Amino acid sequence: MLTNNISYGKQSIDDTDIDAVIDVLKSDRLTQGSKVDEFEEAIANYCGAKYAVAVSSGTSALHLAYQVLGLTTGDEIITSPITFAATTNAALYLGAKVKFVDIVSSTVLMDNDKIEDSISSKTKIIVPVHFAGLASDMVAISDIATKHNLRVVEDAAHALGSRYYNGKKVGCSDYSDMTVFSFHPVKSITTGEGGIITTNSKELYDKLKILRSHGIVRDSADHKYKSTVPYYHEMQYLGYNYRMTDIQAALGISQLKRLDKFVKRRNLISNFYRINFLENSKVNALENLDGRYNSYHLFVILLEDIDKRNKLISFLESKKISTQIHYMPVYKHPYYIDQGYTDFLPNAEDYYKRCISLPIYPAMDDSEAKLVMDYINEFIGF
Ligand SMILES: Cc1ncc(COP(=O)(O)O)c(C=O)c1O
Repeated sequence: MLTNNISYGKQSIDDTDIDAVIDVLKSDRLTQGSKVDEFEEAIANYCGAKYAVAVSSGTSALHLAYQVLGLTTGDEIITSPITFAATTNAALYLGAKVKFVDIVSSTVLMDNDKIEDSISSKTKIIVPVHFAGLASDMVAISDIATKHNLRVVEDAAHALGSRYYNGKKVGCSDYSDMTVFSFHPVKSITTGEGGIITTNSKELYDKLKILRSHGIVRDSADHKYKSTVPYYHEMQYLGYNYRMTDIQAALGISQLKRLDKFVKRRNLISNFYRINFLENSKVNALENLDGRYNSYHLFVILLEDIDKRNKLISFLESKKISTQIHYMPVYKHPYYIDQGYTDFLPNAEDYYKRCISLPIYPAMDDSEAKLVMDYINEFIGF
């Protein structure tokens, strides 16, 4: 069905999702019940990781992941400038700094060949961002990390449902310490707000669970002091309330059942766009590397220059089609400039001027995709 308003992304909620949420609302436990455990187990199983810890957002997931690896004042993380600011903000929360490594223009993934030049004695964590849903080359990144004794956190906010070139699912965490996902409504599946961390390390898993809930330790076997006071519990670390509610987890469990279907639909839409753009020399789509199954959180095209790009955005807006720009290089944000960041990475700068994210979401039908396509062709005179 053709709609009047096509947005760049949105959630797909059906009656089974609504029923799942209503069941929790009618139960005794809105939070700290069994649904969070169930969701964690389902995500860990899906991704092929041993453990998962559900939290309140992708941002809180990044914050906890960095903190349990001991990131602190004076340390540095290495990541891509073309990401949502949360990837790096979470390092700043802990007093650390960011070394931005330029992207490969054709994929917008961090250029692995440039990582080693950015490593210093302060570097602690490498954070590859699986941009738009395309998985980074994790074997190469994990080799660099091992060589320099660094830790790795995958920012997979865009990439639930994606696979590496060897067919393993993003989130298996076989090549990293932890993988972080977001469940914001435009992501592969949603819990409203929410995030999750997958890991194969029992030690990291235990720490994440404690920090998620104020740093409080409930199990008496792990208490520092032995007490006979009923309900005795200890706060051993400075943690947070980053808990996911059971309402959110129930929605996540229900959504996860349709994840593969959602990703398949995103692939069909992106194939449709791609076939058209292959024939059009004035537009370039980002490359999808061979063998990597892409969740297509975003479908990004590049126009000839900033002027054309901006005009296309206005033209599509006039047709009630909203697009997006993902992203301005993080170091250009006023806050980062105020903190002394003076980076100018040529590929990231060029990308930012020419990129536009086209509408893509599971409920988008063929006629809507064709409408977007036809308007773009009309605009560029194809
Ligand atoms: C690459 C990336 N990292 C982290 C986040 C943060 O996730 P959340 O919005 O769930 O806090 C986002 C969200 O858009 C993102 O795109």
